[in-house]
Amino acid sequence: MNDLPLFLRRYFQSLAGCAYFFAGGALRKKHRPLLYALSKHFGFEQETEDPRAKPTPTVPHVAAADVIRDDTAVTLSRIADVAGNITPTELMLIAAFVRQRQPAVCFEIGTFDGRTTENMSANQPEAGRCYTLDLPPEGADHAALPLASGDKTYIAKPASGARISAQAKAGRIVQLYGDSGTFDFAPYFGQVDLMFIDGSHSYEYVLSDTEAAWKMVKPGGLLLWHDYDSRWWPGVTRALNQLQGQDARFAAIRQIENTALCFMVR
Ligand SMILES: C[S@@+](CC[C@H](N)C(=O)[O-])C[C@H]1O[C@@H](n2cnc3c(N)ncnc32)[C@H](O)[C@@H]1O
Repeated sequence: MNDLPLFLRRYFQSLAGCAYFFAGGALRKKHRPLLYALSKHFGFEQETEDPRAKPTPTVPHVAAADVIRDDTAVTLSRIADVAGNITPTELMLIAAFVRQRQPAVCFEIGTFDGRTTENMSANQPEAGRCYTLDLPPEGADHAALPLASGDKTYIAKPASGARISAQAKAGRIVQLYGDSGTFDFAPYFGQVDLMFIDGSHSYEYVLSDTEAAWKMVKPGGLLLWHDYDSRWWPGVTRALNQLQGQDARFAAIRQIENTALCFMVR
């Protein structure tokens, strides 16, 4: 054996990890994919594939420095994130896209508490409008397409847009309610300068929301998606891999390194 010390280190590290895993660690959600990997490795999972397994990301990535100009300064509020929000870094990057592109019309699918909506709006031009669509809790049981397991946690929030300021609610931000699978997007076709897709995380919804976005975003406008390459939302990764790799309209999709954000200029 060429490197006995390395082998022994890995052997004992794995042994310690397995002791923890089989003594109860496997009950933690973040460790569970290992069960599938192990049973597959030992030949027990030849026929079926775990639909929750994280697909390998295939969208090419770029550094934030390649897309955000160095002199871009943003306005940020509501910086601290809660479960369901994008990270503070992702918030800053979206705000920077808005600030440098100055979109008159933004459209978000998936309001949640409105933290991103508020920050997009704050970086738009004075006369800008930011539309944000959300599925209220009562819509969860009648969704037109399959939801991802995990979506209902965020659909079931007490109120959509709870972190949107009263001032923005009264003017620049327009809250819309409905299921993006059936919502009538026609009035927004060809009207949107920047679109953020962060609603349901199922494969079916990401494809459907992206089709709607394609019709809404003007040529030269920006599309953004969240939750790519996330272990919790394999449907997003599967849909964006497919769109970027197989649909010429979306070949320009790129992931921003060290984030779950993807984007492309239409
Ligand atoms: C992860 S949260 C969005 C987070 C938010 N964009 C942010 O940056 O903080 C997902 C949101 O999408 C909404 N949603 C889920 N399925 C939807 C659907 N079919 N149509 C519209 N909104 C949906 C949920 O109600 C929830 O508020």
